[in-house]
Amino acid sequence: MSDNNKPVPFFSHEKIETNNFLMIVLILLVVAVGGMVEIVPLFFQKSTTEPVTGLKPYTPLQLMGRDIYLREGCYGCHSQMIRPFRAETLRYGHYSVAGEFVYDHPFQWGSKRTGPDLHRVGGKYSDEWHRIHLHNPRDVVPESNMPAYPWLEKALLDTTDVAPRMKALRTVGVPYTDAEIAGAAAEVKDKTEQEALIAYLQVLGRALSDQLAAQAAATAPAAPASATPVTPVNAP
Ligand code: HEC
Repeated sequence: MSDNNKPVPFFSHEKIETNNFLMIVLILLVVAVGGMVEIVPLFFQKSTTEPVTGLKPYTPLQLMGRDIYLREGCYGCHSQMIRPFRAETLRYGHYSVAGEFVYDHPFQWGSKRTGPDLHRVGGKYSDEWHRIHLHNPRDVVPESNMPAYPWLEKALLDTTDVAPRMKALRTVGVPYTDAEIAGAAAEVKDKTEQEALIAYLQVLGRALSDQLAAQAAATAPAAPASATPVTPVNAP
């Protein structure tokens, strides 16, 4: 360490390391600046602030389903965030991108996977499969340890709830129109919680996966119904 006979220079590391208060203040400063440099640009980048093509705000029914997903704590076992690793994309499909979560307040990325990731579960199974699975998962996946949610098929949605929820989301930027909000209660009338939850599950991840499927179909070689003749440029 330092030689006691020598005076400590004004800008010495030792001065910081031996002064708790100075050390704490400087650490906070470094973390704050470092954090801002990483976080602030995200608020202005198109890729994180603009919805992906085809992404629509949740319909009233899907929105109520999403709230049931939260109420039942599905996020405790399921993530909604496919990471850009081969093992994940092979299993779940295209990795998640920020523009898919623009209307999610709060997002449901989660951090625990007791069950599989659900970000691209939309369209993977029929509504009927989900009905059986939510009623008793073991009827379709015998080894499943997911809890059963039989009450969802009996409970009707609270229609007074949905308009205020949409209004609240509008204040944070979800573009619901007045007409959509006014018609919301009628849309969820007489629907069960299970129907709402399934409507939500069936839309998850669809905007991007539908777009990719359409692109793949458009670029697929030798579409026989195509009006323009296909010239195979780089055919083997
Ligand atoms: C205790 C943990 C746990 C909880 C809580 C849980 N799940 Fe699951 N979930 C699982 C497991 C494990 C599987 C895999 C076996 C299966 O398909 O049942 C699964 C599978 C699924 C699947 C099929 C996914 C696929 O790609 O095959 C869906 C959909 C699903 N869960 C939805 C839900 C919903 C909605 C809720 C909340 C109402 C929920 N889960 C709550 C553990 C859980």
